[in-house]
Formats: sequence, C-alpha cells, structure tokens
Amino acid sequence: MKTIIQQLTEAFGPSGFETEVTELIKSMIEEHVDELGADVLGNLIAVKKGSQDGKKIMFAAHTDEIGLVVTHIDDKGFLRFGNVGGVGISTLVGNRVRFAGGAVGAIYQEKGSWKDLTLDKLYIDIGAESKEEALKKVKVGEFGIFHREFEDLGNRLIAKSMDDRVGCAVLVEALKTIKNPKNTLYFVFTAQEEVGLRGARTAAYGIEPDLGIALDVTLTGDMPEARRMDVSLGKGAAIKVKDSSLIAHPKVKDLLVSLAEEKQIPYQMEVLDAGGTDAGAIHLTKAGVPSGAISIPTRYVHSPSEMVDIRDVKACVDLVVALADKDLAAI
Ligand code: CO
Ligand code: ZN
Repeated sequence: MKTIIQQLTEAFGPSGFETEVTELIKSMIEEHVDELGADVLGNLIAVKKGSQDGKKIMFAAHTDEIGLVVTHIDDKGFLRFGNVGGVGISTLVGNRVRFAGGAVGAIYQEKGSWKDLTLDKLYIDIGAESKEEALKKVKVGEFGIFHREFEDLGNRLIAKSMDDRVGCAVLVEALKTIKNPKNTLYFVFTAQEEVGLRGARTAAYGIEPDLGIALDVTLTGDMPEARRMDVSLGKGAAIKVKDSSLIAHPKVKDLLVSLAEEKQIPYQMEVLDAGGTDAGAIHLTKAGVPSGAISIPTRYVHSPSEMVDIRDVKACVDLVVALADKDLAAI
C-alpha cells in the first residue's frame, strides 16, 4: 500500500492535466474491474458490477493536485506565476517547482515582502540567464507542481499531493480487495477538484448514483497551537458531518458510523469549518443524491509536505470495502 501511495504522490497532475495520474491508476486496477472508461473532463471511471438487487454507489477521489501556471517571463529569464487551486503562499518560498515539460525551478520572494506576502511578490528561477534561454525550457501558460519526494517515516508518511492521491490509493486498494460486491460500484478518479469540484459534477450527472461517497483528505487539530478540531492522525477514518460544500446526509453518515462499529474499524467524526470535497458536487446532481465522505486525516494540507498515518488509510479502505456489500434498501 505504501508503494501505491509513493507512486501516486510522485506523479505529475495539476488540475486539468491529470493524464499521468489516470494512466498510472489504470495500470494498477485494469485487471480488477468489469469496465473502465474516461470522459471529456478527464475523469477515469471504473465499474465493478454488483448483484441484481444492489444499488449504485459512486466513490470519488480526485486525481488533480494544486499547482501553478506561468503568467510572464521577464528579460532576465525569471518567471511570474498564478495559482492553480488553493496554494498556501507561506509554503512557497524556497520550494521547488516542476513543470509539465520537465523544467525545475526555485521559488523565491522580492526583497522586503515578508509581511503581507502575496503571489505577485514571488518569482521562479529556473536557472536561465536570459528570456531566450528561459523560453527554451518553459512557456507562458505551462502548468507546474511542487517538486517533492515521498518519505516513509514508519506509520506516518510525508508527500506532496497526499490531497488527494491518498484517496485514490484507498480506492485502488479497495478495488483489489472487493470480490463480487452486492452493490454496483463506480470508482471515479475525478479531475479538477481543486479548482471547483468540476470532474465530480459531470461524472455524477452521467452515473446517476443512489449514493455518493467522496474519499478525500481532511485537516487535523493535533499539532502545536492547531485549530480546534477533533480529528487526529492515527485515530481512524474520519466520517464527515459537514464542510463548506456539504452537510452529509444523516442516513449516510449514520450508516458509515454503524458500519464502522459493526466491523470494528477505528473512526472519528469530522466537522470541517473550511474547504469542500467532491461530495459537495455529487449531492446536488439532478434531483439530489444522498452523499457523505470518508476522510483521511492529514496534517499540513496544501503544502508540499502533507502527512498521513498509514493506519488511518487502512481504516478508510476497510470502510469502503464494508460499504460495497451493505444492503442499502434504507437509503
Ligand atoms: Co485540496
Ligand atoms: Zn482534496
């Protein structure tokens, strides 16, 4: 499982350019699914057929990661850039970027911009000595990601883009485990979540699920002087109550809690005061879809060093596997 997380987090996939990630996932799940397809926005949709009386469950984990885009190249070859999704400005200075075409650069700031740091005070140095040289390496409009390796610290793992490759890893692992499920399962690896839950919206419209479940990271409250939040690393899968995109359907939330109790899967309740997930788009599809989320507790979300606990990741896999076989007549 750690290998899957490493491969997925080290792949390149800013919003709108998720192909490297979806191709990788395809190679991991091909032999475990009944159908595999893609759509216009770049969602990868894997289907595992259930029995006749089962329902349609859509699981969603997004393949895209936050990143940046080149907006201007100056005469000396320095780049200016805009954000793709919610990048944390305080995490950028001194970090490295890798662009679609392979160029790597360092991000730094203009003199005197420590206070009130904004994106337009930052630049990227790709080692070019002139605009001409820079143009041989990157183009205006080219997308980039944070350039960071995966680290295995034992139970805890650090990587860029745990948000949401760790959610993708949960679905990949669940797919490999589930045999002959009761419900028909749509495992959707969604595009463009970080820029507004876009892939999940079109995928849900096409699938018309009876139940929608997002697998995504959530914040924790267990670091020094952290926000007040009752989610910690190592305490299990987080079952969402609400975030700013969704109030989990009470029946879905209760179902996940009772499943966790029944199967003795460690869990905690998640009340997230900012941020959203794909479930926010899924539940508003057509006449509405009962939806909820299983979240992976993650420290330092939207920084190049996002940290998860492998025990929580496994608890999330167990919960997905349990739901696949659950009688959903009551939903
Ligand atoms: Co995110
Ligand atoms: Zn996410």
